[in-house]
Order: sequence, then structure tokens, then C-alpha cells
Amino acid sequence: MLLDEIRDLARSRGAVILAHNYCRGEVQDAADFTGDSLELARKAAGVDADVIVFCGVYFMAETAKILNPARKVLIPDPTAGCPMADMITAGQLRELKARHPGAAAVCYVNSTAEVKAECEICVTSGNAEKVMATFPPDREVLFVPDRHLGGHVAGLLGREYVLWPGYCPTHAALTVKAIEAARRRHPGAPVLVHPECARDVREAADERLSTGGMCRFARETAAEDVIVGTETGILHRLRRENPGRRFHPVSERMICPNMKKNTLENLRDALAGMQHEVVVPEAIAARARIAIERMLACG
Ligand code: 13P
Ligand code: SF4
Repeated sequence: MLLDEIRDLARSRGAVILAHNYCRGEVQDAADFTGDSLELARKAAGVDADVIVFCGVYFMAETAKILNPARKVLIPDPTAGCPMADMITAGQLRELKARHPGAAAVCYVNSTAEVKAECEICVTSGNAEKVMATFPPDREVLFVPDRHLGGHVAGLLGREYVLWPGYCPTHAALTVKAIEAARRRHPGAPVLVHPECARDVREAADERLSTGGMCRFARETAAEDVIVGTETGILHRLRRENPGRRFHPVSERMICPNMKKNTLENLRDALAGMQHEVVVPEAIAARARIAIERMLACG
């Protein structure tokens, strides 16, 4: 069986398998640890294995590599990118910084290593409010690339940021109409959305949470039915961890095609051939590491 083959290979290679909450259910089940991007970055920072196989999208595997320059980091499909991360280049960020001298450049972790290297600090959706609260209110902030997460945090802290117009195609497509329809199907059920959703959608929801925050909410809520407005891969974990509750997607169409590129077959092939190694030039990694480690130091 493929799963046994993966476990045997992982053992013989001294590999740990990390998977994001949006991966296919069978890939999550094959992983040693499943989490949101902050939990996975923390896990990667403390890993004690020769090899990390990262089932997620490229920037996540890159973050693991930056935190583990001496370890081998593999990604089952190196074409699994994040379109939002590719919506700003390091050159564009340098131009923006030149137009705003003295401003703090902050990036969502969904960004390339080159963009992180240009930033003071990065954030995830799980810690953005906490990290951004460390900036003095009078400091100008350039927030890239997600205008929705940036707008969400600016709103929470009562501040205004210069927002880069990037977005997640999977989350930005969610509509208030879809939320209203889900509420009609499941009256009384709380609606959770990811902060990558547009402002009107965030306002129409009950909670705005990272995927890790949604997993914690699901464990603690008294509600039997919960409406989930994020990538549908998370439903596998929510249902497995909370067999007494029912989880309903706002939309079955919320799929990140790149997360779905991770399969049991290419996970096995990555381990068997030790292939698709993630490489980050040390000159870039050294600067990007500062931004990531500052974020992790915020707790
Ligand atoms: P989380 O940090 O909530 O896991 O989100 C990552 C992501 O890519 C959301 O689209
Ligand atoms: Fe990127 Fe959106 Fe996919 Fe997350 S869900 S990895 S932000 S494209």
C-alpha cells in the first residue's frame, strides 16, 4: 500500500513529513504533522530530522529551508506555487520602499524569499495582529502582498497601511451571497472565514480566523454545525478531530489548485528519489531569515 511505502521510505530516509491544512485528506493522513503556516514554520524551526518533505506550496517549503539551511527540504511538486506570492517581485517592493523612505516593509508569509529579504518582518494570518501591534502607530507601514489580510489587520488595530493590491484567487472569489445562502441552509451555525477574504465577506462572517484558528474554534465551540469559508481541504481535519460536529463549506468551489498538486504518489516519489529539493541562495536566505525569525520571536 502506498501509505506503508511512504512510511517505510520516510523512516529509512530520516524524513519528517509536514502538510498544510489545505492538502488532500490522504496527504494529511500520511504526514507526521499538519498545521497552518505559522504552526508549520514553528515546527520546521524545531525539526530534528535529516530531511523535511513539505506538502504545501512553494513559499512554505522555502520558509522551512530558510530556517534549516543544513537540512534537505523536498517538495513533492515544485510547480505548487501560490499565485498571491507571485503578485509582487522584490524589484517592485524596492521601488515601493524608495517612494516611502523610512516606512516599515512587512510581508505576509505568502511571499517569495526575495520579497521576505526586503522586509523588516513577516506575519501569518495566525499572528498578524500581534506582530503588527509591535509597530508604533506613527510609523508608516507598507504591507505586501495581500491587501485583504493587510486591510483586516489595519482595521483591527485602527491604523492605515499602504496596501499592495495582491489577493488570493481562492479566497477573494468568495461572496456575501454565498455566505447568506449557507446561513439559510444551516440556520444558527457560526460562519468562519479566512482573513484573505474580501472586506464585505469578512464583515458578513462571525469569525475571521487562520486555518489553525479555525481548528481551535472547532474544538471549543458548543455549536453542532459550523460553516467554513476557506479552502475545502481543511474540512478533512475538522471532521476527523471533531466527530460530534458537522462542518459545511460556504462553497465547494473554494479549492486551491496548487495545494491539490501534493498527492500520495508524488510524496512517495519525492522520498524514493530524494527529489525536488528546495534551494534558496544563502545571500537571500540570510536576509529573509531575519524577517522570519523576528516574526517567530513575537510568540
Ligand atoms: P494559514 O496561515 O491560515 O494556514 O493560511 C495559509 C494560506 O495560504 C491561506 O490561503
Ligand atoms: Fe496561495 Fe490562496 Fe492557495 Fe493560500 S489558498 S496557497 S493564498 S493561492
